[in-house]
Amino acid sequence: MFEKEIREAASILSKSTRASASCGAGVSAESGIATFRDAGGIWDRIDPAEVGTPSGLINTLEREAPKLVPLFIEILDSFESAEPNPGHRALADLEAMGILKTVITQNADNLHQEAGTTDVIEVHGNLFRMKCLACESIRKYERKPLIREVKERMAGLNSFNLTALASLAPRCDGCGFMMRPDVVMFTEPVQDLPRAFAVAAGCDVMLVLGTSGVVYPAAYLPREAKKSGAAIIVINPTENPFESVTDIYIPMKTGEVLPAIVKMIREKAV
Ligand code: OAD
Repeated sequence: MFEKEIREAASILSKSTRASASCGAGVSAESGIATFRDAGGIWDRIDPAEVGTPSGLINTLEREAPKLVPLFIEILDSFESAEPNPGHRALADLEAMGILKTVITQNADNLHQEAGTTDVIEVHGNLFRMKCLACESIRKYERKPLIREVKERMAGLNSFNLTALASLAPRCDGCGFMMRPDVVMFTEPVQDLPRAFAVAAGCDVMLVLGTSGVVYPAAYLPREAKKSGAAIIVINPTENPFESVTDIYIPMKTGEVLPAIVKMIREKAV
């Protein structure tokens, strides 16, 4: 299916040494992590105003923490069992082949790094990097051990309220204050934006992967790349939110298409 488009994408990429990828939740869907807005995704089930901003989350936890606990556990479970999928691994292969320079991702799940990609810009942060709420020092944790520890401590709680849930947060080695995941919630500034835009402006091909394109400024990156003359290749099984700037659209899963592209380039079948 879409053999012609896949071959064309492989051909364009095979000539590049400064391609980039701009990724969304769809890239991790085949790892078992639900996207945000597809059926069953978190924003399909709960209003982002309730849990997507720092003040919304605190208010909701104060009022009805027990309601959120099953959702937290479900999310923790899916992040604990997730492994990088063939799409993540193919991006790491493209980097190792000298084609892909940088992955810009909205995902905070660390799976690009675990697949072997070395240059990852995480515009929405990383769930397993903690930031002290007082002195802002940063500490990186291993994904699975951190989740296991949080789940164990959660199981030991007698009741679920804001204070009890806050007690699960790691403490800063330096000042002893509470840490939180260094992720971007709504109303907070995105991370590494100047470099993300520099990468978009400097690439000659941008793979736009698994994003609904509704959250800015990340959704502006393909437009920035196009403005600078890059070819835009969109891979998304259900929608192309970037139609006006797209050169090639492949309506399939990234875990299917990206390994096929790598194989074609390796076998020089382009
Ligand atoms: P969305 O949930 O909005 O969109 C996911 C996209 O992935 C949809 O367009 C799906 O069609 C597509 N998709 C699903 N499965 C796929 C697969 N196997 N291969 C390729 N594509 C697939 O997720 P994002 O666009 O990433 O922000 O959402 C953007 C931001 O909204 C997130 O980073 C998060 C959220 O609120 C913050 O937390 C700040």
